[in-house]
Amino acid sequence: MDKPKFYITTPIYYPSGNMHIGHTYTTVAADTMTRFKKMLGYDTYFLTGTDEHGQKIEKKAKEAGVTPQQFVDKIVGETQQLWKLMNIEYDDFIRTTQPRHMKIVQKIFKQFYDQGDIYKSEYEGQYCTDCESFWTETQLKNGCCPDCGRPVQPMKEESYFFRMSKYQDWLIDYIETHPDFIQPPSRANEMLNNFLRPGLQDLCVSRTSFTWGVPVDFDPGHVVYVWIDALSNYITALGYGTEQDQLYKKYWPADVHLVGKEIVRFHTIYWPIMLHALGLPLPKQVFGHGWLLFGEDKMSKSKGNVVYPGPIVERYGVDALRYYLMREMPFGSDGSYTNEALLTRMNADLVNDLGNLVSRVVAMIEKYFGGEVPAPGEETDVDKALRERFEALPGIVEDQMDHLQFSVALSEIWKLIGECNKYIDVNQPWVLGKSEEGLPRLKTVMYYLAECIRAVAVYIYPTMPSTPEQIYAQLGVTDESLKTWESVKQFGGLKPGTVVKKGAALFPRVDIAKELEFLNGGRKAEPAKEEKKPEPKKPEPKAEEKAEGGIASFDDFMKIKLIAAKVIACERVKKSEKLLKETLDVGGGETRTVCSGIAKYYTPEEMVGKTVVMVANFAPRKMAGEVSEGMLLCAEDPDGSVRLLTVDGSVAPGSVIG
Ligand code: MSP
Repeated sequence: MDKPKFYITTPIYYPSGNMHIGHTYTTVAADTMTRFKKMLGYDTYFLTGTDEHGQKIEKKAKEAGVTPQQFVDKIVGETQQLWKLMNIEYDDFIRTTQPRHMKIVQKIFKQFYDQGDIYKSEYEGQYCTDCESFWTETQLKNGCCPDCGRPVQPMKEESYFFRMSKYQDWLIDYIETHPDFIQPPSRANEMLNNFLRPGLQDLCVSRTSFTWGVPVDFDPGHVVYVWIDALSNYITALGYGTEQDQLYKKYWPADVHLVGKEIVRFHTIYWPIMLHALGLPLPKQVFGHGWLLFGEDKMSKSKGNVVYPGPIVERYGVDALRYYLMREMPFGSDGSYTNEALLTRMNADLVNDLGNLVSRVVAMIEKYFGGEVPAPGEETDVDKALRERFEALPGIVEDQMDHLQFSVALSEIWKLIGECNKYIDVNQPWVLGKSEEGLPRLKTVMYYLAECIRAVAVYIYPTMPSTPEQIYAQLGVTDESLKTWESVKQFGGLKPGTVVKKGAALFPRVDIAKELEFLNGGRKAEPAKEEKKPEPKKPEPKAEEKAEGGIASFDDFMKIKLIAAKVIACERVKKSEKLLKETLDVGGGETRTVCSGIAKYYTPEEMVGKTVVMVANFAPRKMAGEVSEGMLLCAEDPDGSVRLLTVDGSVAPGSVIG
């Protein structure tokens, strides 16, 4: 049976300068989606490319003293390099200056003219060269371009126009009867209410004031103006209108065009009308995603707030940036980029949650079972709960990905990771490993954890394509069938006896303050290094070995007030990567705030609800700008990991310990 098809596109980018992480956003999303669909067994086709014509490019090339073709060739080369760096695997890269594209644009333009969709007239209005847009007087902001704020010039020019109004009612009906066509739905309402229902203006589709464009072959002096040229790429790349149109026949209509919100109008009004006029089916969906903002502003070179992906990838790895882009903001909404958020996500989600889980589990299998994944024994309720989450996840992730909800899908995957970390706390493998009786239980615990980690590696692949192989190498998974989507639908794929091998930390922990200095331009920080485990503490000298006076008396001990306290809230301390700030119920209706250096070992979510042991009579002291009113007791394992002392069973907060 033929595989189902999936055709996805990004916008084609203007090669007018270096690509920033805003551009990278759409392309990473398209690549993630393609990899995901491929895993699900689809026959995928992913198209991206460059939109190379127009007055702006012509002007920039002139300023640079090169031909427009030389100008775009250089930037297109750099763009393709960037996609390699970002691990983008497209099937085709279309350039609007390629003859395969230009010939068909001419043909399409002629067909529109012959059909009477296009007519010749004169354009009069205010023109912004940078944005290549005409504006009416009322649209101007303080007499300048409403998009970029630059001065506009009056322009009068002979042009061809497309009779958009002719198709307006058909399109309103189409959008109303195809609720999935424009996503998210708010963007469909915007199109209907702001543009279609008030009445469409005819669209200017040719220009005579510059020459860097597809020539209109039946009227020399005119070049095809931006949108007919640019939008056609989605079908010219597939060979539409040529003898070699197998790809067109196979993949059109597209399953989804991913576009930024400012070009939704062109993709959901002009493009459907063009296709309809050509007698072609419409794409199944246009998804208008939000912008990556910098503060309040859209990232743009003219505003001087651009963040480039190159240095970030070089320093922290491509998967960390891809993860951040797909996780940080819901696809469809705007979100602010900050270096701090990037670094915090790296430490919290990648180092603490995922990286530590993998290294702890592999280390424990090595320590307790000589490196061989044990066979699980009888399943208890806690194991069952973990297995059930494992088994529910494929459906949840598939559903979220089908709606392009990358961040929700990732947060669901991270819930499984969180459950595994909790499962370790609940089962306390380090206690089970101490006695023979604990061993059968320990086998089950280790097997369940290893199997969950295998599934996590499968799930993260579309977003973070290079990390899974590192996890498989540590877990000893070589069987390709255990790396597939099918394999995560059923618990138990991992073979007992598989030999694990501890490797380097998946993600190096970053020193946020130092890295901020680097990313903010100070460039003083050293390159990010491998995570350094804290040196194991030397054992304390035995009491009798201590110098006179070093031995604590019973009275000394009694001076310390230890109580049981319940964590009712917990958050990370902003200025420190080590500290968590806990709000503790200490009984009698009182709460205390305590800062503890355990952010590496516990997430704030894991802390809430625990009843811990607290030193309650220390004088308050300041830690990273926060006042700490006590201390939580912890045990430090020789392998460097730190575990909290908690109270067995339930006791009232404030209960005295001693
Ligand atoms: N050439 C047109 C598209 C033609 S498609 C037939 C174009 N090019 S662009 O280079 O200006 O933008 C390409 C894409 O990058 C757009 O979808 C745009 O929304 C996206 N982004 C540019 N800056 C962005 C952010 N700061 N954040 C998210 N996406 C942004 O438009």
